[in-house]
Amino acid sequence: MSNIRVMAENWYQNAVFYELYIRAFADGNGDGHGDFRGAIEKLDYVKSLGVDCIWILPMYPSPLKDDGYDVADYNDIHPDYGTLADFKAFLDAAHERGLRVVTDMVMNHTSDQHPWFQEARREPNSPYHNYYVWSETGEEYAGARIIFLDTEASNWSYDEAAGKYFWHRFYSSQPDLNYDNPAVHQEMFKAIRFWLDMGIDGFRADAVPYLYEREGTNCENLPETHAFLKKVRQLIDEEYPGRVLIAEANQWPEDLLPYFGEGDEFHMCFHFPIMPRLYMALKQHDKTPILNILARTPPIPAGAQWLTFLRNHDELTLEMVTPEERQWMWAQYAPEPRMRLNLGIRRRLAPLLDNDKRRWLLMNALLLSLPGTPIIYYGDEIGMGDNIWLPDRHGCRTPMQWSAGQNAGFSPAGETYLPANDDPIYGYQVANVAAQEQDPNSYLWATRYLLQARRQCPELQHGRLEFLDIDNPAVLAYWRVSGEQRLLALYNLSEQQQSISLDLSTYQGRAMTDLLTSSSQELLTNWPVVKILTPYASHWLRF
Ligand code: GLC
Repeated sequence: MSNIRVMAENWYQNAVFYELYIRAFADGNGDGHGDFRGAIEKLDYVKSLGVDCIWILPMYPSPLKDDGYDVADYNDIHPDYGTLADFKAFLDAAHERGLRVVTDMVMNHTSDQHPWFQEARREPNSPYHNYYVWSETGEEYAGARIIFLDTEASNWSYDEAAGKYFWHRFYSSQPDLNYDNPAVHQEMFKAIRFWLDMGIDGFRADAVPYLYEREGTNCENLPETHAFLKKVRQLIDEEYPGRVLIAEANQWPEDLLPYFGEGDEFHMCFHFPIMPRLYMALKQHDKTPILNILARTPPIPAGAQWLTFLRNHDELTLEMVTPEERQWMWAQYAPEPRMRLNLGIRRRLAPLLDNDKRRWLLMNALLLSLPGTPIIYYGDEIGMGDNIWLPDRHGCRTPMQWSAGQNAGFSPAGETYLPANDDPIYGYQVANVAAQEQDPNSYLWATRYLLQARRQCPELQHGRLEFLDIDNPAVLAYWRVSGEQRLLALYNLSEQQQSISLDLSTYQGRAMTDLLTSSSQELLTNWPVVKILTPYASHWLRF
């Protein structure tokens, strides 16, 4: 057991995560694809950001029709990314630096290239046939929505070899596993033990709402699904305490709550609905969407935590907003049709914010000061851009921009898995790690600074949240409080200067430091304290 595991049991509650796509990060063998050997060389960089845990996207053998979310073997590494030994070396190197590693476990479906499916379609009498969900007519479960709306016409596809339809919630190359078959449970437990035995620190469990199907329902969040997930948690608690189980369930807060169970299901759930509301509040110059969704967010069991994010490897999902809000978000943030995908927006953080440093700082400061464990998506810490002309979600998965050199310093190969982004503003010639290391005003140093400030403030990691009642919709103000420590977060969501007065009489005689403008230390003598908030200002006032 590595030293890292001796640390605090609830480590994930106060951590910062970094989402890393191995294929995109660093090419160690010059074949144009990122790999574990390459990523090892970059771990010092990851550590230098001030993050605690790396989440890596699926690294399994796969035809990569859904970038690895189409698994062809649960117990191996994709040959483009290296070998099991390379993976282990990556894990050890991360642990040596005090970084944890969680990986993706794709539970709902496999690739159609998985030997289970190949056998299942060929041989109706094989035990593998019953690993998948079949139909003679393809008419069952009509209440289930289609998720990949832009490409899939139905959740059923006809398989010629089997002479039947098979069920799939995502691409037709991703047949759903049949959780009514206990053998499938055993296979999943086997895969889970395999990686935990190797020493990973936990899993992000992919697409968990869809494990079971039942007629007359929307086939999401079913009681049977929760019962299975509780068995996974039990396995972790009994055999691998200290490892973390994370749910990817794109659902409303009240439907997310059951994924924590009574502290006996997931340790963490992504808080999907808050994400679009941060963008909404910013463009509407109005805090109401944030206040409303937090009011709708129920308390969670002790030992549980939300995972929060601004962007990830998928489209910026607009599933958890109303149809009117979705149209508004598209109009504001995705004016060109190519920017839209399914029910979302395929753009990266910096372009969404028009490369405006004030808004970038505000959004990141919000992310790092609201409750939850924040995740940073690789490349967003240097303001990387997207390439909307690439298919699917590839435009947000281009090579990490290390330098202005060949292929962004990502690879010496003639051709890379996707071209490096060479946009005049967001491309590698301009936005890259090497250049930003030299520039104290860069996104990179701002990221490091914010993470360091958060680390110094336990109240930001696990403090209580108390909103201040400020009668100005553009100004969002809240306390984070832990014991004696308190921090007042203040944000101006508008492009106009705002002035507010705060009654801080309780703090008379105490010094107040603004962590985000390093300059000011005020001794509080007079009140109300009048604060002038410049357009898009962010302040972390600490007493
Ligand atoms: C999750 C992943 C997404 C993938 C899908 C199907 O939503 O985040 O990238 O396509 O599951 O596995």
